[in-house]
Amino acid sequence: MIKPYKKIYIENLETIAQSCYSIIEDAGLKRHTDLYYIDKFGEKNKDRFRNLPVLRDLMTSLNLYDYWFSTAIVETYTDLRIHKDTGEFTFSFNIPIQNTKDTYTVFYETIGQPKKMYIPNSYVDYMYYPIEQTTEINRFEMTEAAIINTQIAHNVLHCSKVKPRIVLALRLDGSYIADEDMTTV
Ligand SMILES: [Fe+2]
Repeated sequence: MIKPYKKIYIENLETIAQSCYSIIEDAGLKRHTDLYYIDKFGEKNKDRFRNLPVLRDLMTSLNLYDYWFSTAIVETYTDLRIHKDTGEFTFSFNIPIQNTKDTYTVFYETIGQPKKMYIPNSYVDYMYYPIEQTTEINRFEMTEAAIINTQIAHNVLHCSKVKPRIVLALRLDGSYIADEDMTTV
């Protein structure tokens, strides 16, 4: 089976999630579905998450710190449409922060061309694939951290939409080399 993600075990996940949530809360929650950066994209030294000791130590121990160049917050109240990420990266190290139980990252094979997607109140401009042009290839519950291939079509599914789901997406630069089974569809 094609597996466009690799789960990463984090021993102190709860501590890390709480510390990251404090930064997100201080910056102000969006309170609507959005993917956003609270620090300037790609400015490594100004990234509040890169300067957070518990997260820096984790990324250093995983040999990922040098690849990590920007950090997105994914705050969702609804399912996301099926899309590929835009931006200068392929791999993202995603860490569950809040209310990720019963939510899934799902990957798809696609046929045909994507359509333009608009997220209300957001600058994010995604191309999406209508569900009928896709076939699910794999999924995982977002209760554990994972490196995902963002160039394989994917979305987010919530089972409960009452609370916001928050995931931190640590973008890894082009020099990061993933396992071969994560790159083939
Ligand atoms: Fe995405």
